[in-house]
Amino acid sequence: MNIPAVTPAKINQYTDKFNCFLDPNVEELWQAAIQRSDILPCIQKDTAFILQLLIQLLQPQSILELGTGVGVSTLIMASVLPEAGHIVTVERSSTFAAEAEQNFKQYGMSERITLYVRDAVELVPELTSQFDLIFQDSGKQTYVPTLDYLVELLNPGGFLLADDTLFPAMELPDRNRNSQRVIDQFNNAVRQHPLLESYILPIGHGLTIARKISEKY
Ligand SMILES: C[S@@+](CC[C@H](N)C(=O)[O-])C[C@H]1O[C@@H](n2cnc3c(N)ncnc32)[C@H](O)[C@@H]1O
Repeated sequence: MNIPAVTPAKINQYTDKFNCFLDPNVEELWQAAIQRSDILPCIQKDTAFILQLLIQLLQPQSILELGTGVGVSTLIMASVLPEAGHIVTVERSSTFAAEAEQNFKQYGMSERITLYVRDAVELVPELTSQFDLIFQDSGKQTYVPTLDYLVELLNPGGFLLADDTLFPAMELPDRNRNSQRVIDQFNNAVRQHPLLESYILPIGHGLTIARKISEKY
């Protein structure tokens, strides 16, 4: 089941007429993916727009994404990546990863994207390169265990973005209780982290935008 966005449907219908994907091919991919029930949901439309905007503003050369799915959010980011920019993305499911690889090829982006078919909780502590931007959108159970490692992997001034962080404040079916609990733990850990300044943007399912600082004041 697709979980509705936190913003009222009427507002979304109106803004949808004006907000647009920068690459119409990527929009087509997003449209098709959002209707599928055989994959986990891809990012909400507003989240896609903000992700595009942040990448255009911040011009990150190196991006780490956790939770590739079939590569929709990866391609949304790749479509606005600076010329020499590169994305490393991690997906646990080999089925989804194979489809993502296909999509990267079809969109001519294979050279700019490295895909690891691994469990993010196992892989992240092994990574050694630094990133300007990290997008956390994998299983909710990975958010807390990877947080400290992700902050270490961020360059100073880099940004950690995390999707679905308003889950604890949303009316969700009972099966999401555990996700709500672990996301609440994540939100508290981000808030208390000595090297992060953060804000939860109330769009989509909630998007945390956290900047790595050298010292909290
Ligand atoms: C919400 S979907 C990602 C959607 C994708 N970011 C998009 O917007 O197109 C979450 C993905 O994380 C993957 N995942 C869940 N737990 C994971 C883990 N521990 N390590 C790596 N990937 C994981 C799932 O298989 C799923 O494809």
